[in-house]
Amino acid sequence: MIRTHTCGELNASLIGKKVTLQGWTDTVRDHGPITFVDLRDRYGSTQVVIDHKKSAELHEVGKAVRKEFVLQIEGTVKKRPAGTEKAVLSTGEIELDAESVKILAKAQPIPIDLTARTETNEDLMLKYRYLALRNPDLQKKIIFRHKLVKLVRDFYDEEGFLEIETPILAKSTPEGARDYLVPSRVHPGNFYALPQSPQLFKQLLMIGGFDKYFQIARCFRDEDLRADRQPEFTQIDVEMSFVDEEDVMKVNERLIQKVFKEMMGVELKLPLQRMRWDEAISRFGIDRPDTRFGLELVDVTNILSKGEFNAFKSAVEGGGVIKAINVIGQAEFSRKDMNDIENFVKIYRAHGAAFLKFQNGKFDGSIAKYFSADLLEKLKVAMKAKENDLLVIVADKAKVVNDSLGFLRPFLAKKLGLIKPNTYNLLWVKDFPEFKIDEEDGSITFEHHPFTSPRKEHIEWMEKEPLKVKSLAYDLILNGIELGGGSIRIHDPEIQARVFKIIGISDEQAKKKFGFFLEAFKYGAPPHGGLAFGLDRLVMILSGAESLREVIAFPKNKAAVSIMDDSPSEVSQKQLKELSIDLILPKEEEKK
Ligand code: AMO
Repeated sequence: MIRTHTCGELNASLIGKKVTLQGWTDTVRDHGPITFVDLRDRYGSTQVVIDHKKSAELHEVGKAVRKEFVLQIEGTVKKRPAGTEKAVLSTGEIELDAESVKILAKAQPIPIDLTARTETNEDLMLKYRYLALRNPDLQKKIIFRHKLVKLVRDFYDEEGFLEIETPILAKSTPEGARDYLVPSRVHPGNFYALPQSPQLFKQLLMIGGFDKYFQIARCFRDEDLRADRQPEFTQIDVEMSFVDEEDVMKVNERLIQKVFKEMMGVELKLPLQRMRWDEAISRFGIDRPDTRFGLELVDVTNILSKGEFNAFKSAVEGGGVIKAINVIGQAEFSRKDMNDIENFVKIYRAHGAAFLKFQNGKFDGSIAKYFSADLLEKLKVAMKAKENDLLVIVADKAKVVNDSLGFLRPFLAKKLGLIKPNTYNLLWVKDFPEFKIDEEDGSITFEHHPFTSPRKEHIEWMEKEPLKVKSLAYDLILNGIELGGGSIRIHDPEIQARVFKIIGISDEQAKKKFGFFLEAFKYGAPPHGGLAFGLDRLVMILSGAESLREVIAFPKNKAAVSIMDDSPSEVSQKQLKELSIDLILPKEEEKK
């Protein structure tokens, strides 16, 4: 190596030493006969002084150098003149007095703002991702990710887990999203599916006797994208034999404890909180509650259905519920604030929201007149309402009420500044339902995936009251985001067959889709279970990123496109022919 040091390494102890640095020109300041260059690499930046008077060569290069040129600089480490030190920089006490400067590569003017903290023009930033990656903030997050992955690998290794790779070209895994398909050239008309997760393979590894498996596994899902979803993402994937729910949760919360301690300096107390799914829905409306703030949902159906307000009465007569949130001290919310709330809950299919203010010792608001003093007193007690509190009330089908108020909580918490920065709130949600109603076609489908074991004591209800059956599934929630989830699996082929039947998969379909998998259970499958954490999400939250794009080196945009390499893109007729594929493209007007 030609460089003797990195750009983040020089300090006062090296004053007087001759060194060679290589790196990028972060800034150039032209002070006439002297050019100041900040030379940057992954490790830091060093101020370099190019004194034109020293030589013709230095004069020439000092005039020519521009931002992002790659330079090799030999020089002597000097103490910075008094008053020009920069305490924030590790190299802030010194500067490099250049003796020779070589331009290793020139750079055209950079088409993006490398110092941008927010993605002003996201697509442009993604097109020039390799330049955006030079931003030290972004580099820090990628380096954080590397360290976290190393910690994860070491942790599981020490706990006796083996890292085993599973196929990328495989058969479809039922995780609930659409598959990315890969056509086979040698088997015309046949496709591999990229794994939505290694679910089937990790279970087969248990049948194969490996006992404890983990993998930093790439997963692919064709689903609608959000800030916390990417079409290809990475899981910390785990499976264990001869375990129950607590065994899986315990070892994995130890990992999370270690991650928090070593990466964040935060001590987590174990065991983490466990909350039943029913309780999460009842108190927070959603199954991934953010419990860093209050604003809990209170069921006031029994009180408010008894008044004369027709919208409430009819919602309850139609089988619905009435729930309310006490927004403490916010009776002064403006009409606009309340309109914003109404518009927000409408996203979740609520017809609207009603409001009651508690002021001057009584409830006030357009609906107050529909309720007797006795009912309003009961409401006050149920909601723990005090002077200047505001109640937000929604009446509708339970799912609509829970969704709309459940998502309203973080919206209000953000608006009111109720979330303390740098607080981490972790809890397990468990006892999920085994089945749910498919919103698209009203049929019964699985809540987690079809290999999740129902709770033993609920198995007898499966056919008659499937929606009552709870499963041995658990999710880990961090600040209202689902960080991971897993379950104890079905290892009895007879129960698996019954689950398939309930979700409408016939024996024949099951055989065709997962025949190899079901066959494996005939040869002695150990009881087993596991989970998967979303690695990208974990890194995102812990590194303070707002989106998964900040913690993935080469992410896709919201339309699942990689603008930089222009994928997905058309392929040649020759390639299509080799794959026996004929394209039937949607007409222009049918495209979304
Ligand atoms: P699940 O589907 O819940 O479970 O996924 C596990 C975790 O992966 C993360 N995740 C995602 N991250 C980024 N982009 C996405 N599109 C995305 N989808 C999921 C989430 C989620 O909690 N095989 C089961 C695990 C098991 O049962 O062992 C599974 O994949 O953080």
